[in-house]
Amino acid sequence: MSEGHNLAINGDRLWDSLMEMAKIGATEKGGNCRLALTDLDREGRDLFVAWCKAAGCTIRIDRMGNIFARRAGTNDDLPPVMTGSHLDTQPTGGRFDGVYGVLAGLEVIRSLNDLGIATEHPVEAVVWTNEEGSRFAPAMVASGVFAGAFDLEYGLSRADVDGKTMGEELERIGYAGPEEVGGREIHAFFETHIEQGPILEAEEKEIGVVTDAQGQRWYELNVTGQESHAGPTPMPIRKDALLGASRIVDLVNKVGLDHGPVGCATVGMMQVHPNSRNVIPGHVFMTIDFRHPDADQLLSMDRQMREGVAEIAARSRVEVDVEEIWHSPPVPFDRSCVEAVARATAELGFSSREIVSGAGHDACYISRVAPTSMIFIPCIDGISHNEVEDAKPEWIHAGGNVLLRAMLAKAGRVA
Ligand code: GLV
Ligand code: MN
Ligand code: MN
Repeated sequence: MSEGHNLAINGDRLWDSLMEMAKIGATEKGGNCRLALTDLDREGRDLFVAWCKAAGCTIRIDRMGNIFARRAGTNDDLPPVMTGSHLDTQPTGGRFDGVYGVLAGLEVIRSLNDLGIATEHPVEAVVWTNEEGSRFAPAMVASGVFAGAFDLEYGLSRADVDGKTMGEELERIGYAGPEEVGGREIHAFFETHIEQGPILEAEEKEIGVVTDAQGQRWYELNVTGQESHAGPTPMPIRKDALLGASRIVDLVNKVGLDHGPVGCATVGMMQVHPNSRNVIPGHVFMTIDFRHPDADQLLSMDRQMREGVAEIAARSRVEVDVEEIWHSPPVPFDRSCVEAVARATAELGFSSREIVSGAGHDACYISRVAPTSMIFIPCIDGISHNEVEDAKPEWIHAGGNVLLRAMLAKAGRVA
């Protein structure tokens, strides 16, 4: 493979495309709200598809709404070298989480066209549906179906808080494609992403060579007490579901701290019923998100939480139903893909370090069916899942160049 100076993406074009996509669902604080399978998600998808068609790609959409934009290889029967991420965001999301990985893939294809480079394997840029797991739980569900972690019926039946399913919403926005989900070989998969944490920026590293991703366990809890009047009901006999839930929030935080420094534990969602200021809450729905790179430690977090919840339920005179709705084990990425990223980084002279992903990514599931790894770039102050999420254009550019070289190494440059 040439190591010539002209083997480079067009960083300005990638940045401009990111800024153009960020107009769809732009928020007042400079972020994005483009929840999965909303009209705004459709707009983002339509723009991506239009750009890919203009770059000469063929488009295929599967039954989970995953979009594959393909640049043919000289031996087009070979399995593709694939890259991509997601276009959906959190409700108060940023402009880069996911979108960067998708548009870096498109930029690789555009650059291959500009540079007149043919590859033996086809190259594909993919948009995975509903990576965030915000509107529809769990996260990474469509890449999970692709990789066989979930069956199709499970994926299509995931429902939002209003009871709308992914299947219905895919039909509504016109992205319930005809293709079978998965079941085809991928030669290698790379995902480029902002780090979403503070390590690379603090250590002044331009590239994170991602070796592993930590595991996650997600739970839904229903805390049931008894609604009663806020005035006449004496304190000692109350069955206050919100008090029980609040104690669980504190417990979850302690579980995270007890599994430090890398364990993380979050209650991110709570619905209080009836949510009236002079009614003692009778019911709370809440979620727990546990993360750890070590499966045994993740199990230990599960045990500590369950024991603590039982004690809180008794002390608070409430009933608590705990359901684990998702378990994504820690992922070691493929050594040859990690090495391809490390080699590309070294060729380009970027400062780098190996890093474990704290966030979940579609690459975690795809690693079950294809040699996979990830490329991280820093983000400002390590902030993500926040409208102020930001990255410097030179970091965006650097990650794209590493992706181009890593993909070429796997796709086989023929001209
Ligand atoms: C996905 O954004 C996650 O929660 O890691
Ligand atoms: Mn993401
Ligand atoms: Mn995210």
